[in-house]
Amino acid sequence: MKNLVIRGGRPLNGSVRVSGSKNAVLPIIAACLLPVTPCTLEDIPDLVDVHTICLVLEHLGARIDRSGSTLVIHPPERPCTEAPYEIVRRMRASFLVMGPLLARTGQATISLPGGCAIGSRPVDLHLKGFHTLGARIEHGYGSVRAEVGPNGLRGNRIYLDFPSVGATENIIMAAVLAEGQTIIENAAEEPEVVDLANFLNAMGAQIKGAGTKVIRINGVKELHGVTHPVIPDRIEAGTFLLAGAITGGNVLVQNVILDHVKPVVAKLNEMGIMVYEESEGLRVTGRDEYRAVDVKTMPYPGFPTDMQPQMMALMTGARGTGIITETVFENRFMHVSELRRMGAKIKTVGRNAVVQGPAGLSGAPVKATDLRAGAALVLAGLRAGGETVVGNVHHIERGYERLVEKLRGLGAEIEEVV
Ligand code: UD1
Repeated sequence: MKNLVIRGGRPLNGSVRVSGSKNAVLPIIAACLLPVTPCTLEDIPDLVDVHTICLVLEHLGARIDRSGSTLVIHPPERPCTEAPYEIVRRMRASFLVMGPLLARTGQATISLPGGCAIGSRPVDLHLKGFHTLGARIEHGYGSVRAEVGPNGLRGNRIYLDFPSVGATENIIMAAVLAEGQTIIENAAEEPEVVDLANFLNAMGAQIKGAGTKVIRINGVKELHGVTHPVIPDRIEAGTFLLAGAITGGNVLVQNVILDHVKPVVAKLNEMGIMVYEESEGLRVTGRDEYRAVDVKTMPYPGFPTDMQPQMMALMTGARGTGIITETVFENRFMHVSELRRMGAKIKTVGRNAVVQGPAGLSGAPVKATDLRAGAALVLAGLRAGGETVVGNVHHIERGYERLVEKLRGLGAEIEEVV
């Protein structure tokens, strides 16, 4: 088991380049099952989750060539239609192949992804969408089987009870080859949904309204492979902005789209921490004293739930009391007890966490319970006096490419110890 050993208390300085977006890449790779010719994907991060979705695609019959950060994906002529538990259990996003499989073959059997550390995370909205497009859904042996009649999927109007990112993406991928028009209402507006729609439109799909609450898809007969560079990872960018802020450093974050990180930048400004737009990226200049703020996670363009744990780490050092409210996931405060062990003053009541600061953090052995909780502990460790040892590093490796190398490049004292 690997640990990250951090000796904190050093301001980070310098510049860091953000990798391609993990959450954009996963559905885009799944969408490579749709065209009849190969796709080339650029700026693909080297991450465990990316390897997992590639394994799923290879299992379904695709051929994938990787060279540096470029992937060439050759779609299978006749895809296998079953994704086994052995792979799906590793990552919930594997379920994103259901939409493309239904569109290409009219059937798909996928193991249910199961529970997850940050909540129950069902797939009912994905299935409701497929059902509305004409698929018959059956559950059994821990799997979901979806099958379409002889006429294939037919466009329809789908209202999502919650703007689920995954459900929006999966339904888009099912609808692009369906007969007629599909309208998704209360759709997720996240930039990753827009990147997927741009990719599919370049392949010949007809999707309008991605990035708004209503997405209209006119089905087409066939899609063709294209070359697509994925958008930068806004959560990685936000994490590095907070790394600069929490250490009182001066960090230039490169390869970032300002609009995508606005909710995070707005909160930093409210705390009294400045972020400047430069030609090469965003520069954060930390300061010793900053104010506590209230933060509520919301679907985009609200404050991202994937930045909530890191924000909580930053808030431990703020002057005053701030309330963090988690509205997206029901159980996303597991980092609280670990942050407390480092000296943070945090109380939770239901979906609210009350953070009192400033607390002097001190290094401690702690455990990452999930990807972003792990990132929060790394940030806390960078600020804390003494040595912090973060365990369960595999969670962090799912979503941060070369994190140790990047942080060391900014002057952090951090190493990976087996
Ligand atoms: C995606 C992101 C994840 C991020 C999340 C919310 C990827 C690969 N992952 O996850 O990093 O934290 O968006 O921004 O892009 N829900 C249902 N029924 C469903 C689907 C979802 O009730 O069928 C609920 C979930 O339990 C959760 C909420 O909706 O409470 C948001 O989930 P969703 O937007 O679907 O997140 P993911 O797509 O899984």
